[in-house]
Amino acid sequence: MTQPRKPRFPRLLVTGGAGFIGSCFVRDVLARRDGTRITVLDKLTYAGNRANLAPVESDPEQAARLRFVVGDIADPAAVGPLVAEADAVVNFAAESHVDRSILEPVDFLRTDVLGVHVLLEACREEQQRARAGERSAAPRLLQVSTDEVYGSVETGESREDDRLEPRSPYSAAKAAGELLVRSYFVTYAMDVVVTRGSNTYGPYHHPEKLIPLFVTNAIDDQQLPLYGDGLQRRDWLYVADHAGAIGHVLEHGRAGEIYNVRGGNERSNREVVTALLDRLGKPWSLVRTVADRPGHDRRYAMDGTKLAALGWKNKTAFEAGLAATVDWYSENEAWWRPIKSGEWETYYRRQYGARLAGSRDAG
Ligand code: NAD
Ligand code: DAU
Repeated sequence: MTQPRKPRFPRLLVTGGAGFIGSCFVRDVLARRDGTRITVLDKLTYAGNRANLAPVESDPEQAARLRFVVGDIADPAAVGPLVAEADAVVNFAAESHVDRSILEPVDFLRTDVLGVHVLLEACREEQQRARAGERSAAPRLLQVSTDEVYGSVETGESREDDRLEPRSPYSAAKAAGELLVRSYFVTYAMDVVVTRGSNTYGPYHHPEKLIPLFVTNAIDDQQLPLYGDGLQRRDWLYVADHAGAIGHVLEHGRAGEIYNVRGGNERSNREVVTALLDRLGKPWSLVRTVADRPGHDRRYAMDGTKLAALGWKNKTAFEAGLAATVDWYSENEAWWRPIKSGEWETYYRRQYGARLAGSRDAG
């Protein structure tokens, strides 16, 4: 049997590791069984869910290499000691839903901007300790950012050095977070890297987002609220590919660099909804045209040459990934039904109540 390769960063701090992409990263890294130890720091907001780490917690060898800390990345007292023990920090923690950022932006600034600053300061402290010979090297920080920082891309594909033109409170906060990261590279020569991922989908995705919302609503024969004409375009990236690309950049990326993580699966929202309904065997008549998202970005698309040159290639075709995702939601009602209750109902009424009341046939 071949032994797993020795990890470059044996002790990882994964912030936001109970969320959708962060938990996939944690599950996949621990499943390599290469000795990597992970501390997850997660505030367990409405989007965080320890059940996302259940596969790890039920495997004694993996569970022994996971420590879970409930805490806020914007709290220096929580962050400092954990960064002090880490060889690298991977920051997934964020408020991540555009629609919620339109309803209430303030939490986005606190976590996606100030939280990043707290992480950077903790890493800077460790850099000073490394320079004083108190640890062997400063921790590397990987900031998980998004293609939304480029704004709406009507034609062509965004490259890493394109202008940032965020258009929602969410994407503006994410842009601010990654610009802070860049400033710490320029000013303090810190070991930082940034990834910009495209629209991610897969198991354990919170049902507030398009694919899981529509799949779970359709399972219950509920209406599917499609914004505007539904011809907005996104580039879909399977969650294990996104998490894998982040791991690849963590290991091989050059300090101070930014890497686009594209899916290579550009589809209109109507195409995505048609495909998921086909898989479920549910009718298009569930789809309702509702009032559009204010400032709705029409299209995202990124050039992936730089990450490909670093040696990364996605593994999952959209059709296979979507089928696996739809089937996962059909088979895991025990995961999503509790999320779609309580607080969720208030959110859903606020977000969709008036929209659905004024909706029309989606044609
Ligand atoms: P998510 O909303 O599913 O998870 C976010 C996690 O962060 C949750 O576990 C939450 O509890 C935690 N968290 C929130 N605020 C925190 C705080 N102050 N301190 C500690 N933990 C906190 O998000 P996701 O979809 O998994 O996205 C992860 C990262 O990837 C985010 O930074 C997001 O901007 C970025 N991203 C997401 C996508 C996508 O399509 N989902 C695409 C590109 C980039
Ligand atoms: O592009 C990367 C981004 O992808 C990430 O940075 C964000 O964290 C992530 O949430 C996602 O943002 P989007 O706004 O693109 O994802 P969302 O699933 O909310 O919407 C996808 C598309 O579907 C978008 O055009 C809006 C539309 N939509 C969404 C919802 C929730 C609808 O038509 N109806 C809906 O109810």
